[in-house]
Amino acid sequence: MKNGFLGYNASFMLDFVVSALVLIVPVLIWSIWLVKYRQSFLLHKRVQIALSAVLLLAVVAFEVDTQLVHGGWQAIINKPDQPPLRTETQLVEISGVLRIHLIFAISTPVLWAITLGLALRRFPEPPTPGQHSRLHKTLGWISTVDLTMTAVTGLWFYYVAFVA
Ligand code: HEM
Repeated sequence: MKNGFLGYNASFMLDFVVSALVLIVPVLIWSIWLVKYRQSFLLHKRVQIALSAVLLLAVVAFEVDTQLVHGGWQAIINKPDQPPLRTETQLVEISGVLRIHLIFAISTPVLWAITLGLALRRFPEPPTPGQHSRLHKTLGWISTVDLTMTAVTGLWFYYVAFVA
């Protein structure tokens, strides 16, 4: 899987993970709307478990493809068998954006796993509001903002690396 489907110079898995991240945000907002305005706690739980599985699969497949198949993001931009598209200076600038993205991209799975794990252990089945609600709402909102920032900064990285 050497080429992407969005029409830029990225890999298939980069296009896949960036699309998945952008599509996951509205589903997450819908899931929070379900719980906040419809009291559909069980559906919220199922949507969150499904989102977690999609995120995990997308991230693992993306990392394996980027690191092991392509040999890192720089080799996707400047392909070893083609003339370089970016200068060293540009690569340094792009890696600055990547560093900002990584703050969110690394903290999101950790926070997400804690939010999901605690919710699964502490809410009853079927889930209803209870003693865990306060902590869950705090963790849930922080995870939501973190994931959204991961998507926004991921798009920013994608733009400076492959579009601009
Ligand atoms: C990482 C996964 C999850 C995230 C990001 C998340 C996010 C949220 C957020 C932001 C709220 C608060 C909505 C508001 O302001 O009213 C909420 C509420 C709730 N969530 Fe989750 N959730 C996740 C997983 C789960 C799971 C797995 C369960 C069930 C086992 C669950 C059960 C609930 C319940 C019962 C409420 C309502 C709490 C109340 O209003 O007292 N959530 N969730």
